[in-house]
Amino acid sequence: MKKFLTSVLLCTTLLGAGTLRADNILLSTKNSSLLVTADKGKAPLFQYFGPSLASIDDVFNSGAAFNDPVYPQFGVQCSRETAIQATHNDGSMSLELVVESVSREQRDGGEVTAIATKDKYYPFYVTVYYKTYPDNDVIETWTEIRHLEKKPVTLYRFASAFLPVRRGDNWLTHFHGPWGAEAYLYEEPLTDGMRIIKDKDGVRNTHSSCPSFMITLDGRPDEQTGGVIGGTLAWSGNYRIAIDNDNTHTTRIFAGINEDQSQYVLEPKEVFTTPVFAFTYSNEGKGGVSRNFHRWARLHRISHGTAQRDILLNSWEGVSMKVNQEVMDQMMSDFSGLGGEMFVMDDGWFGDKYPRNDGSSSLGDWVVCKEKLPKGIEGLIASAKEKGLKFGIWIEPEMTNSRSELFEKHPDWVIQQPHREMYKGRGGTQLVLDLSNPEVQEFVYGVVDNLMTAHPEIAYIKWDANMSLFNYGSTYLPRDKQSHLYIEYHRGMEKVLERIRAKYPDLVMQACASGGGRINYGFMPYFDEFWTSDNTDAMQRIFIQWGVSNFFPAVAMASHVSVDVNYQTGRRTPLKLRFDVAMSGRMGMELQPAHMTDEDKAFARRAIADYKKIRPVVQQGDLYRLISPFDKSGYASLMYVTPEKERAAYFVYKMEQYHNMPTPAFKMAGLDPQKTYLVKELTVVGKPIPQDGKQFTGAFLMETGLDFTVGGEHASRVLELKEVK
Ligand code: DGJ
Repeated sequence: MKKFLTSVLLCTTLLGAGTLRADNILLSTKNSSLLVTADKGKAPLFQYFGPSLASIDDVFNSGAAFNDPVYPQFGVQCSRETAIQATHNDGSMSLELVVESVSREQRDGGEVTAIATKDKYYPFYVTVYYKTYPDNDVIETWTEIRHLEKKPVTLYRFASAFLPVRRGDNWLTHFHGPWGAEAYLYEEPLTDGMRIIKDKDGVRNTHSSCPSFMITLDGRPDEQTGGVIGGTLAWSGNYRIAIDNDNTHTTRIFAGINEDQSQYVLEPKEVFTTPVFAFTYSNEGKGGVSRNFHRWARLHRISHGTAQRDILLNSWEGVSMKVNQEVMDQMMSDFSGLGGEMFVMDDGWFGDKYPRNDGSSSLGDWVVCKEKLPKGIEGLIASAKEKGLKFGIWIEPEMTNSRSELFEKHPDWVIQQPHREMYKGRGGTQLVLDLSNPEVQEFVYGVVDNLMTAHPEIAYIKWDANMSLFNYGSTYLPRDKQSHLYIEYHRGMEKVLERIRAKYPDLVMQACASGGGRINYGFMPYFDEFWTSDNTDAMQRIFIQWGVSNFFPAVAMASHVSVDVNYQTGRRTPLKLRFDVAMSGRMGMELQPAHMTDEDKAFARRAIADYKKIRPVVQQGDLYRLISPFDKSGYASLMYVTPEKERAAYFVYKMEQYHNMPTPAFKMAGLDPQKTYLVKELTVVGKPIPQDGKQFTGAFLMETGLDFTVGGEHASRVLELKEVK
């Protein structure tokens, strides 16, 4: 019984000490193992998660076994943090879950192991699921909670997952940032006490913290080396990730929906399914964890994750809400001349009684504004077609303004509370629709369905959301279930999105929420990409994209070249830098091309052509982050390498310039040491680097690296590497 390298093994094993331990369940990905003990009639125990095990005996014989409950309950052992807490019909607050059965099945490309438990006394059931995939190293876990008591049971805690991590020199990497500065990276040692990462916005859950984190197992975080566990909660609503260090040999992590103000009244037989918590282990440092998540996301968690993305021009920063047929035509025509592939008309195109000219009206009135667009959407689509472009459109379907026909007709559809004046958002009038209400769900679905039925040629939808859930209260939910709103809002949304995806499987959709307010894996199964940030300043984007790249792949990271001077920061940067930064993600543009000089247009044409050369490498390759902008060395660099390691794309940015500044050797990573690569510089302005057109072995590029001058402050270089056969 020594080797356990298959995907999942349910086994009975004899331990070294001679004790019979029944039903050790080993889940294995290619490079990691998770071990649970599930003896019938006993509490299921989480024993191990980390590097692949050759023998489960090692876990028990070494003392490394956690022996922690798989899903800690409040009740008998009530002095610790818990994953679940419920109050039964008789008022008892206690749970004691024991194993009923363990099963496994193949589902949607993976293998699902289910550990079914039941309370020792009450008809209360929790099933803990783990899903592994043969093609990647991420494990998904979630739970289903139900009961057969006579009356509802109230849930006060309902985490998606509990994950113990062995105590050591553990460091936490997490991401936090508001509008315009999303996903700033923070790293700190995990000390004793509780560390909570949470969000309570209600609508956009990544404009404070992000529901993703990494924990090192053996010292300071490093990009290339060291054992690291990473986790992310796939939920679009309020979340809470609690990391508890109580001076034992275990750090205990609880991840799930934020239960604050969200106690859940669970009816008999109703099944409460928690969102997925996805986690992974890598011994290749933070970079390894990122690559694991990227692979999982592209293959299983992002809509069309392996499809090539178009290069698009979005109208927002170019013309704001001043859209009209003429300007749209001109933008399309110019962009087509630059080699673009898709045009997206942003905010400002709709509203009949109340034309949308600023943020104070019209959301909900999804009919074209005839004054601005007399030829309607069909006129725009025809124009796009003529110019060889696809056409996309902006909507914000979860929202309305008090100045709108929708609100006049359905004032009860907005989230609101009795006896109080409504707090309104953007434009002093914006309100959030109550997605817990099936009528509202139908309406929101209809926004997309009506557009797509009338204009099946629409290839892309940018779905925006620009308000928090204020005025907490629902006219739809009953009195005793008002506390469900934060959850039902997102369940309602999921229902809508599932219907949209079922009917329009090919539609490309972008999740935007005042920029990067919705960069989460709860949304991504329905969306192809996210708008990373409203901050398009290339210098800040280097930081934002670095942070976001820790958990999300480039194929989903919309990154647009915008105008100089930058609207958000007022900073000036060269057009080359703006392109070179956008090229490290899903590149697009967001400016009025009519304002570009001929010289800028010529460069843009060249840069777009260059991006097309490396697009498959960037969008589907493995990411290696090399020099962190957060290290403040004056440089930042990263690269993508195809899984076959025959092509790569390398980016370096000069963050600042001062006299006598040391230049690092630009070392690479992820290449095949045995292969020889031809280096070619792209988007060249002035002289290319001396190594342009020369060949180097992968070993040399990774061990010694290239010496060249990037240029002054805000200069940048992009290199393409191709294997010489
Ligand atoms: C916020 C988004 O983040 C922007 O990109 C733009 O679409 C505006 N909303 C439009 O109102």
